Amino acid sequence: MEPTETLSADDAGIARAAALLRAGQLVAFPTETVYGLGGDARNDQAVARIFEAKGRPRFNPLIAHVADLEMAETLAVFDAQARALAQAFWPGPLTLVLPLRPEAGISALVTAGHDTLAVRLPAHPVASALLRAFGGPLAAPSANPSGRVSPTRADHVRAGLSGRIAAVLDGGACAVGVESTIVSLGPEPRLLRPGGVPAEALEAALRQPLPAGGSETAPNAPGQLASHYAPGAPVRLGAHAAETGEILVGFGPVKGDLTLSASGDLVEAAASLFHILREADALAGPEGRIAFAPIPEKGLGRAINDRLRRAAAPR
Ligand code: TXA
Ligand code: MG
Repeated sequence: MEPTETLSADDAGIARAAALLRAGQLVAFPTETVYGLGGDARNDQAVARIFEAKGRPRFNPLIAHVADLEMAETLAVFDAQARALAQAFWPGPLTLVLPLRPEAGISALVTAGHDTLAVRLPAHPVASALLRAFGGPLAAPSANPSGRVSPTRADHVRAGLSGRIAAVLDGGACAVGVESTIVSLGPEPRLLRPGGVPAEALEAALRQPLPAGGSETAPNAPGQLASHYAPGAPVRLGAHAAETGEILVGFGPVKGDLTLSASGDLVEAAASLFHILREADALAGPEGRIAFAPIPEKGLGRAINDRLRRAAAPR
């Protein structure tokens, strides 16, 4: 394959990216959460290329990204609760798992053959411009090799996927920094993955509790956690001080070699999480280890702790 093009996030870059996508090629693009690895969600070959580029061992389902609510409604069925959540949080870091409209033409590789579809309307201006220029849904997992740390900068994408995808649209650093919150709206709403919209905000909008749902994205015991977001170095959590050979990543009062947020701000910590994981990995080197200070289990802290527990899970 040709070398990966870097496109600037201007009209020309977006037009080039849309043309590549229409030709069934893959383009990584910025969203407010992380960079996505985009391909035409209605093109089986393009979607298959996504799995190939990421080296994903299993065909787990992908999120369809849309330009607006109208496009979303052509793909999936919205009930009153789904509409209320879309109204309150879209565009933004919330993914809704809804009944698929079979006539929507979504590749069965996107849904992994299920009759539900994960839909997301991203808030990043470059993502919206690309989706509008492309004019259809884009399947887009995070733009990293399978199991590795998610990318929040174009450099991260190039480091993992250069030569494996057609292009990366460079839109700078991602503001939210952790992936979208995933909610399924079957008979009862369920939290499938904590993420950029805190569960507390969703519960307030739904006016009912949001229990964690059964899926591999929400394991219920630490021992069952799939290793994911894995840096090269082993990771220890809940650290108040570094042990020998460890790079300590601080938070709030726990000072470290690096910090997720010196002031204890969870928004800042989420935004810097994946970049700091990479920096700590580089500092730790081949023999080193990484320790993380405790992060409170509330608001965005739930998404941060979810990603850290996976980074620390046995490999
Ligand atoms: O913030 C994000 O959501 C990013 C950016 C690029 O938008 N995307 C992302 O995609 O995190 P990915 O592929 O890494 O995660 C998609 C998750 C998977 O864990 C998958 O199991 C779940 O969504 N998912 C997709 N479709 C589903 C469905 N029909 N039912 C249940 N879970 C689904
Ligand atoms: Mg991912």
